Amino acid sequence: MNIISEKQSFQSASAEVLVVGVSKHQEQVAGWSDFVGFFGNPITEWIKEGDIASELKRLTKIPTFAPSAKIKRILFVGLGDRKKLNPEDLREAFGLVGKELHKLKTTSVTLWVDSFVTPEMEPTEVAIIAAEGAGLGYYSVKGYKTTSNAIDVKVEEVSFITATDIEEIIAGIEVGQVYANAVNEARTLVNLPGNMLTSTKLADYAEKLAEQYDFDIEILNKAQLEELGMGAILAVNKGSVEEPRVISIKYQATDKWEDVIGLVGKGVTFDTGGYSIKTKTGLVGMKGDMGGAAAVLGAMQIIGKLRPNKNVIAVIGSTDNMISGEAFKPDDVITTYSGKTVEILNTDAEGRLVLADAVTYAKQQGANYLIDVATLTGGVITALGYDKTGALTNNESFFESFLEASAEAGEFVWRLPLTENDKKRIRKSDVADLNNAPGSDGHMIFGGGFVGEFVDNTPWIHLDIAGTSDTNSAHDLGPKGGTGVMVRTLATFIERLAEEGEEEN
Ligand code: BES
Ligand code: ZN
Ligand code: ZN
Repeated sequence: MNIISEKQSFQSASAEVLVVGVSKHQEQVAGWSDFVGFFGNPITEWIKEGDIASELKRLTKIPTFAPSAKIKRILFVGLGDRKKLNPEDLREAFGLVGKELHKLKTTSVTLWVDSFVTPEMEPTEVAIIAAEGAGLGYYSVKGYKTTSNAIDVKVEEVSFITATDIEEIIAGIEVGQVYANAVNEARTLVNLPGNMLTSTKLADYAEKLAEQYDFDIEILNKAQLEELGMGAILAVNKGSVEEPRVISIKYQATDKWEDVIGLVGKGVTFDTGGYSIKTKTGLVGMKGDMGGAAAVLGAMQIIGKLRPNKNVIAVIGSTDNMISGEAFKPDDVITTYSGKTVEILNTDAEGRLVLADAVTYAKQQGANYLIDVATLTGGVITALGYDKTGALTNNESFFESFLEASAEAGEFVWRLPLTENDKKRIRKSDVADLNNAPGSDGHMIFGGGFVGEFVDNTPWIHLDIAGTSDTNSAHDLGPKGGTGVMVRTLATFIERLAEEGEEEN
């Protein structure tokens, strides 16, 4: 995308679409008289009469009729009551703008930044949110239809009308774009079918990412996992013809490798359930069982671009969960990388096994804090539905600051309790240290709690995105399919931690 860094006026701006924020008292917007002076005085009246909608998230599109206008059409974005407008609403409104721009096959846009300013949100913040929201809304799933004649359009030119320093606006736009692009890549990974995205392919993707952003990367293959004794991920992989991979990516920001945040992702490229096989409807959609890995890789992409001053290690355990004469079975007893033994009661509770080894590896690689992300249980959907990510933690203050980042990113996270009683049930086995499926009552807690058995005293947050990683229907910020959930929260969290660290020094 080409960002035109010269300041534009209504007269000079040349684009297919001019995007303008509109609320009830539009006359109060700085520059409004210039705007209507150029594009036509009736516009104020049309807003008052409702022909141009000012209600929140309503869009109105009109062609321009000023003879000298180099703008083809104006897209008005309803903001409702400016005093009440919050960043989430504005982001979603821009999501709809992105969808409209995509529909119009727009290649050039002018954004009148100052028309979106509110008492709470200044132009640079508007710029970030606008680019992020529009970038998310613009995303579409390509698919593989041979009959598809969808041409790949892209916004190629963006220019701005604003009284603020243009460099600041552009810096904001770039941050928003970085966030949106990373989420969109995570979405694409989630949308890839299991035959196209195997663990080897996922590792190849990670390798390219590492190359692009100068990360250290290590990819462990099956022989190396056997050598190390990663018995949990290997058990899940036993029924597969695809090799497993453990991917670890290091982003070192400070001289010393200390104070390291570990991001651990579940990368199950397809989950049949194994011998505890899923139902035929339960199987559909299980290509998305690597949503946690996608979230971690998306966050790493943002980190690679914005280079916050915080050390991060990402560890992804990847395999599919298949059936064959060699597959693992209920009643099997396995030894995890940590040395702890596990009695398998359900082969469909495979994510926690993969994460157990990945978490142990992350700790060994120096992680002082751990966040694991996984499409772990149907239980989280029963508890919280499809729009809330479920969380567990062993550390109040770590979780507190994480919640602030999730609020900033507009991604809802809700914590469930993990009690001593729950832990007792995870540790209940006649033959091993743990069992992998204590029951189906409140089982989101058992899934996450199992992972917790491998973190010991390290501050830890578990994120179950089984309900939020995928959607059945389009939403303001994107189409149906992979959502890229937690990419923005994780990256925002790392950015804010880095800033806090810098303030302290
Ligand atoms: N990948 C699934 C969880 C899942 C369910 C993700 C629905 C996305 C949508 C996970 O591996 C699984 O099968 N969990 C079981 C655990 C149970 C056997 C203890 C579940 O939730 O039913
Ligand atoms: Zn499963
Ligand atoms: Zn799974």
